[in-house]
Amino acid sequence: MISHVYLQELIARTNIEELIGTYTPLKRAGRTYKGLCPFHSEKTPSFVVYPDSQSFYCFGCGVGGDAITFVKKINNLDYVESVKMLASRAGMKLPEEDDAQGTLRSRVLALNRDVARFYFACMNGEVGIAARKYWRGRGLSDATIRRFGLGYAPDSFGESLSYLKKKGYTQEEMLASGIVKKSEKGNLYDVFRNRVMIPIFDVRGNVIAFGGRNLGDEKPKYINSPETLIYKKSHTIFGLNIAKKSTSRRYILCEGYLDVISLHQAGFDTAVAACGTALTPEQVRIISDYADEVVLCYDGDEAGQKATARAMELFSNSTVKVTVLTLPAAKDPDEFIKRRGADAFRHLLDGAGNALEYKMAKVKEQYDITVPDGLLNYLKDCIEILAQQATPTEQDVYAGRLAQETGVEKQRILQQLETVAKNYSKRRQRQIQQDLLKEGINSIRLPLGVSGNQALGAANAEQQLIGALLKQPELLEQVKGNLRPEELILPEMRQTYSLILQRNKEQLSFELATLSGELSDEVMAQLSRVLAQNYEIQFTPGDIQLYLSRIQGAKHQSKEAAKMEPDQLAAYLQKLKQQKKPTDFSGDE
Ligand code: CTP
Ligand code: MN
Repeated sequence: MISHVYLQELIARTNIEELIGTYTPLKRAGRTYKGLCPFHSEKTPSFVVYPDSQSFYCFGCGVGGDAITFVKKINNLDYVESVKMLASRAGMKLPEEDDAQGTLRSRVLALNRDVARFYFACMNGEVGIAARKYWRGRGLSDATIRRFGLGYAPDSFGESLSYLKKKGYTQEEMLASGIVKKSEKGNLYDVFRNRVMIPIFDVRGNVIAFGGRNLGDEKPKYINSPETLIYKKSHTIFGLNIAKKSTSRRYILCEGYLDVISLHQAGFDTAVAACGTALTPEQVRIISDYADEVVLCYDGDEAGQKATARAMELFSNSTVKVTVLTLPAAKDPDEFIKRRGADAFRHLLDGAGNALEYKMAKVKEQYDITVPDGLLNYLKDCIEILAQQATPTEQDVYAGRLAQETGVEKQRILQQLETVAKNYSKRRQRQIQQDLLKEGINSIRLPLGVSGNQALGAANAEQQLIGALLKQPELLEQVKGNLRPEELILPEMRQTYSLILQRNKEQLSFELATLSGELSDEVMAQLSRVLAQNYEIQFTPGDIQLYLSRIQGAKHQSKEAAKMEPDQLAAYLQKLKQQKKPTDFSGDE
């Protein structure tokens, strides 16, 4: 069997839209990609790729699954061959050779956690006086320090090293973690010395890297962990492990670790930062999994403004709404909060200028609008912006403003806009996706009839429940103690649920692509259909409660079925199906 960590690595390195895009041209439509199905012949696209859940589904022919399923089907390979093919595409070693890699990975994770504790202890010890003073000087409370796991790396070339040795870590593990380096002479030494330490967490709360800040003004200000087998800068968002727990879906994206920490302390619990890099498409994709809106809050200097423009560009390809916050009289959010307080910041946030205005203002700076040429170019660029990004109401409002500003008739501007907008079918594409969804739902036939409508409701609830778990694994906590696999009527959902429970028991994750080795293509297709249907839905604990009670409400009537083995049940359902008319999904309760 291929190890779980290996599969996770493979998924992380495989961009499903890119993979599938090499077989059939895909067009972006919101957060999804659409194209002609490579598995059946069609003229209008009904094949959709969902980067969020790393899955695909064809509403025309019902084929679906994860990246591995895709490769399997399109190349007619078996599971292991498909994994190998994806691995070589991703530049990974082949799976057999990789068990050692998996072990190393988990050792490095453990090492990072241990060394974070070590840094924390050092900060609280005698050597940490200056560090404690530093954090205090930055205005951080004990609670904040603890929440972010801040620490101090002592002024020594060998203390972390000897601590880790004592803990039993090997040289290979220490080097792989990036905490320790090898000198030219071949001696190991600590990378972080006399620095206050900021651990970087992944979404699941593992420490995967560190940023170490100088206590003074000397350069370099930061030393960061190198990329390792557990740390990929371009895929990491600092603060996300905390922000994701917020009830707010409006994120604040800033530049520095300390901005994030400061904002959290001031009560803005959705502050995040890209880890000292220019924002990447992957990071945008990750943020858009959690946020509906992002307020860009970069530094006021030129670099910060460049970063703002880049971020806006990247987010314009996502469904996330972007606003831009300009801080008056402060270089960054940290400084602003310190000077003016949290209330003033909240005030700014609520009035954050919208991205359209910001963009148009930027365009205006580029042209001399007192001459006809400049004016026309300005107008042209604004129309382009509005056509691509504005809602119809916004288009109307800004067309009006542009008319006033330029003296060109509003009607003219609107006409132009319409022409340009035709080239941007983004919104239409989204509509098509939604229509397809409805079609998909109506065409689903459940092998049901166990006990009429109630069981139909239960079967529907089962699918929704499993979909919810795949999308939002944290919901399993609410489900696992309250539902046994035997209580599910649909064999596919029962099998999936058992597998999920088993994974959870082994403390492993269960994203779709790690399940495909153990589920049939048929089940994978069903799961990706459920994910496709719920692609825009955020499940709540209330939803889960409803599904559970539906499933269990129908239980007493389908007790008999519940006791059956999958094979028996399938036969039983088949029989019932022949007796009754096939029931379809839309007949829900
Ligand atoms: N950064 C880095 N290496 C540096 C400087 C900066 O990795 N030598 C990254 C860090 O992630 C840092 C971010 O860029 O958090 C923003 O830089 P800066 O604004 O200089 O740092 P702050 O974290 O805001 O720190 P401070 O408030 O102490 O200036
Ligand atoms: Mn800064």
